[in-house]
Amino acid sequence: MSNAINYPLDRKLRMALVGGAGAAFIGRVHATAAQLDGRAELVAGVLSSNPEKARLAAPSFGIADARAYGSVGEMIESELALPEDQRIDFVSIATPNFTHYEIARASLEAGFDVFCDKPMTTTVQDADELVSVVEKTGAVFVLTHNYTGYPMIRQAREMVANGDIGEIQAVRSNYIQGWMCGLKPDPNPPRGGWKTDPAKAGSGSLGDVGTHAYNLICYVTGLTATEVSASLRTYQPGGQLDDYGQATIAFGDSQLGTITFSQISHGRLNDLSLEVDGTKGALLWRQEQPNELTVRRTGQATQIYERHPPAAYMNGSGRNACRIAGGHPEGFFEAFANIYNAGFDDIIRRASGGVCDKKTCYPNVYDGAAGVRFVQACQTSSNERGCWKSLLQLM
Ligand SMILES: NC(=O)c1ccc[n+]([C@@H]2O[C@H](COP(=O)([O-])OP(=O)(O)OC[C@H]3O[C@@H](n4cnc5c(N)ncnc54)[C@H](O)[C@@H]3O)[C@@H](O)[C@H]2O)c1
Repeated sequence: MSNAINYPLDRKLRMALVGGAGAAFIGRVHATAAQLDGRAELVAGVLSSNPEKARLAAPSFGIADARAYGSVGEMIESELALPEDQRIDFVSIATPNFTHYEIARASLEAGFDVFCDKPMTTTVQDADELVSVVEKTGAVFVLTHNYTGYPMIRQAREMVANGDIGEIQAVRSNYIQGWMCGLKPDPNPPRGGWKTDPAKAGSGSLGDVGTHAYNLICYVTGLTATEVSASLRTYQPGGQLDDYGQATIAFGDSQLGTITFSQISHGRLNDLSLEVDGTKGALLWRQEQPNELTVRRTGQATQIYERHPPAAYMNGSGRNACRIAGGHPEGFFEAFANIYNAGFDDIIRRASGGVCDKKTCYPNVYDGAAGVRFVQACQTSSNERGCWKSLLQLM
């Protein structure tokens, strides 16, 4: 058996996971989502920056001792030494922001495809460098902006593209959390301690959740953001990074967008919302009720589109993103798995000599670079009391 992948898939893709040990959040989600549809198997990993903890965590992910590595360098060297029909196909990166660049670059240059969490890097320079590496290697690079995988978001995107709500005029997205309320200083938190360290996180609520809102706006509307004016605040006593902020986004001289991101709003969990105002109607979606899409048209009763694959109102994009019948809630894992599936399709297509229009399949390295540029532009704008900053070129 060779390492070749035939289309349709005749074997499972072999996955390596970086991050996920201990109480880590998103590593376990990557492992679950990637394997949800039986198209990949987790066979290797570097689950922690601490080699001992990395190896100890491996059995709980089903990774054999021999492929539980203590560092990314060791993993790459050992995997490249394996016969091709055993070697990993892709690396999933679920580690703190400041580590993404080095891990992604090393993995791509070793010939592996990459699924990386957001924000892609902590500097625009590193983001642009990763774009070059992806272009040079031709590898598949997927950024897990997982909210774009929800069926009703895919439905909304196709409705907007079809003109169902007319010409877009304005768009609003908020990502409101409250986990910082009452947070006590802890020198050894069980997880996520890096999130409040400027050198390790690069930004606070802006990069952590604001980038999801920005990506969602761009994904659903298909508009190109040109400029941003932002104000960031730090309300948490002793905090060094933004924990609240808002950004106004211009799409050329026409449409306007706004984003509010918060981690200091009492009682709020993961309230990501998106509203799109068109000339013929308006859409509203909320991540905490992801199986519904609200459609409003002046003079008509408000319509709630439920995720229900056979319904005539469901379009192809929405229907194809569903797994089970309506009324049985689909959620975070399934949306995340839809991002993985789009990446797998592209890995297989590329292995079969095909070409993929990456802009339409999944959030890619260009979306990652756009997110990092958004973060930098918002920080610069806020430092200059909200001056408009270009999102189109390096500042
Ligand atoms: N897509 C999403 O919805 C989503 C949600 C949460 C976090 N994230 C992103 O995922 C990343 C991880 O966030 P988290 O909340 O899971 O963090 P976390 O602190 O809970 O977990 C980080 C994990 O990475 C491991 N780690 C750290 N450095 C490592 C290294 N060099 N090699 C191997 N393992 C290493 C840690 O031991 C830990 O297991 C961040 O970039 C974050 O922004 C994305």
